[in-house]
Amino acid sequence: MRKKLVAGNWKMNGAREGNAALLAALLGGLDGCHCEIAVCPPFPYLSQVASLLADSGIALGAQTLSEHAVGAYTGEVSGAMLVEFGCRYVLVGHSERRALFAEGDAQIAAKFASAQAVGLMPVLCLGETLAQRECGETFSVVAAQLAAVLDRVGVKALASAVVAYEPVWAIGTGLTATPGQAQEVHAAIRSQVAALDCDVASGLRILYGGSVKAQNAAELFGQADIDGGLIGGAALVAEDFLAICRAAN
Ligand code: 13P
Repeated sequence: MRKKLVAGNWKMNGAREGNAALLAALLGGLDGCHCEIAVCPPFPYLSQVASLLADSGIALGAQTLSEHAVGAYTGEVSGAMLVEFGCRYVLVGHSERRALFAEGDAQIAAKFASAQAVGLMPVLCLGETLAQRECGETFSVVAAQLAAVLDRVGVKALASAVVAYEPVWAIGTGLTATPGQAQEVHAAIRSQVAALDCDVASGLRILYGGSVKAQNAAELFGQADIDGGLIGGAALVAEDFLAICRAAN
């Protein structure tokens, strides 16, 4: 049985005072939440969030990492640094990184490998744009994004990773994939992995992301191949995020 995971991606939001208030409200409201929970703040707040979450059971993640281990890469942050600050997870290949920062499949696969090399659990984000969906390319786009990583690291590496399906057209738009639309892509992702290794596929957690709210979370999380969520906007409001966590029970 796969334990559900609900991860909050704060994106470029946060400030010291608001972070402390949000985390205090989360920590005070965990009763009745039985899923695994993680939050991914911006880099400068990792230290603050790590100390506020110490021994809490809420895991810490980062939003990206460098594919390089060390050296002259101005502005970059390595996986080893994230480990030092208590991170367990790191997002890799978020669609905003792909679209706004020109991260391609090869770089994303390298970041995935760098994360695992230092013991971080990558959360590999996959998803199609609206134009791709309208052209009937959803399955081929997502399969190619996944294949780029599988080709680089091998299927066994997915035993220590999480996948997140985030249709680009559903991110921050209020448009959510219907539970049926999401489930069919999740099932396709799992079968692609199962064709290489059934055990890895059946243990793999595949999260859904894209305008998940308290109101739609339970139905999404009730689908056979949806193992939790990657939450953007609703992760910034404690009561909304907690309601989504409870929906994962
Ligand atoms: P929203 O929940 O704001 O649509 O964002 C989803 C997302 O991009 C999480 O990584």
